[in-house]
Amino acid sequence: MDEPQTPESDATTYNNFYEMGTGKGDPARNAHLLRSEPWSVTVEGEVARPGVIPLEDFLRPHPLEERIYRLRCVEAWSMVIPWVGIPLGDVIRRLEPTSKAKYVAFETLLDPEQLPGQKRRVLDWPYREGLRMDEAMNPLTLLAVGMYGRTLPGQNGAPLRLVVPWKYGFKSIKSIVRIRLQEEEPATSWNLSAPREYGFYANVNPEVSHPRWSQARERRIGDWSKRPTLPFNGYAEQVAGLYAGMDLRRNF
Ligand code: MTE
Repeated sequence: MDEPQTPESDATTYNNFYEMGTGKGDPARNAHLLRSEPWSVTVEGEVARPGVIPLEDFLRPHPLEERIYRLRCVEAWSMVIPWVGIPLGDVIRRLEPTSKAKYVAFETLLDPEQLPGQKRRVLDWPYREGLRMDEAMNPLTLLAVGMYGRTLPGQNGAPLRLVVPWKYGFKSIKSIVRIRLQEEEPATSWNLSAPREYGFYANVNPEVSHPRWSQARERRIGDWSKRPTLPFNGYAEQVAGLYAGMDLRRNF
């Protein structure tokens, strides 16, 4: 990508991670409380190989890749971040989904001692997100373990987070401990909290306003002026086909 990268110092100090506080600077201040090592991921539901899998085994044998992606937050700001990770689809294939696996549900760690924001019911904890199977298998969908060539800092979702570059940032769930393959569309934290504002699909769409503000433009962190927001965050060529025939105003 030929767009300049967001400075690492911005990407690691201006964060949304409500389990570490609702202020943009809170996650960087509270990240030291999160123990991201050792870590394991519970895999359950419609898979031939369920279990509690240590992070190292979960990632092995996939080689790490660097991917420079735009991340567009629903709050109308964006960043360009070099992520390090592996395609989620590679991991899912190895878990051997059954024919009933239509969706993938994700959960963040639930532990108010490590994630003190969970002492307040800002959202219904644990943070939950989900993807349709074809979205999860799309080669753009990344399970990240690092950024800027280093291990992920706590405030960015150590040690394992999702990055779905054509969707609003809230789909990119942090500090994942559970992955469940299932037949039904999973409940998601933001949709449960404000269903009129946050849908399941959450595809970046300049034409569908958030009920309280427009999504037509965005401020790239570090820039003075705003720029137009691109459909699917600029990834339309790769992903628009996933939604052929769907009304994206209803399925926002
Ligand atoms: N994951 C969890 N567990 N909790 C959160 O509050 N915030 C989301 C997403 N993942 C969030 C989360 C939102 S709204 C955004 S914009 C991105 O994380 C921000 O990721 P970044 O801080 O690495 O830029």
